[in-house]
Amino acid sequence: MRIFLDTANIEEIREAGKLGVVSGVTTNPSLVAKEERADLKAVIQEISSIIDGPISAEVLSTEPEAMITEAKELSSWSPNVVVKIPVSAKGLEATSALSKEGIKVNFTLCFSLNQAILGALAGAKYVSPFVGRLDDVGHDGMQLVAEIVKVFQLYDFSTEVIAASIRHPLHCIAAAKAGAHIATVPYPVLIQMIRHPLTDVGVARFAQDWQRVASRI
Ligand code: G3P
Repeated sequence: MRIFLDTANIEEIREAGKLGVVSGVTTNPSLVAKEERADLKAVIQEISSIIDGPISAEVLSTEPEAMITEAKELSSWSPNVVVKIPVSAKGLEATSALSKEGIKVNFTLCFSLNQAILGALAGAKYVSPFVGRLDDVGHDGMQLVAEIVKVFQLYDFSTEVIAASIRHPLHCIAAAKAGAHIATVPYPVLIQMIRHPLTDVGVARFAQDWQRVASRI
C-alpha cells in the first residue's frame, strides 16, 4: 500500500515529504479553503514542487463540458495533476472523455461498489471510497474498500483504490489489510502511524542504560 497525504497545507506536505514515505497528495475544495487560499493554481504547483507524485485537484464545475474544460486547465498546471471528479452521471461522462484523452481522473466521493465499478469502466485512474464518512453514517467504510479491491482484481481492472476520508491509524491498518492500493491520510494520522509508547519507553531505557555504564567509564 502506498501513502498519499490528504491536505493542502504546504508546511504539512513539506514535513511529511522529508520522511520519504509519501508518494502523492490529495486535495479537495474544503481542504484548500481551510488554508484560506483561493489561488488553487499556486497551491497545486507548490505541492508539485515538493512531492514528485500524483497530486489530486478537484473540479467545481457541474456540467460535463465545463468539467472537461476545467480538468484540462487543472492538468495543464503540472504533469503530476490528477483531476478529481465527483461521482454522478455527468461526472462519468467527463471521466470517460478525459480518460480517452489520457488525462488521469480520481473518481471521488465514492460511497458504493456500483459507483466504483462505473468509475473503473469509465477509465478512471483512481476511485476514492470515503471510509470515514461512511463510518459516520453507520456503514462499514472499510468493507466497501475491501469489496472494491476484490471486484477490481476479479475483473483485472487497472483502476487503483484510494482509501480516503481516513480519520485514525486503525483506518490505515484496515486499508492495508483490505488491499487498498493507496491510503490518503491527514498529516496528524501519518504522525500517529509512526508513534508507539513502547518505542518511546524503549528509546528512553536504552539511553538510561547506556548513560549508567558510560558515566562509570
Ligand atoms: O480524502 C477525502 C477527505 O479529504 C475527506 O475527509 O475527513 O472530510 O471525510 P473527511
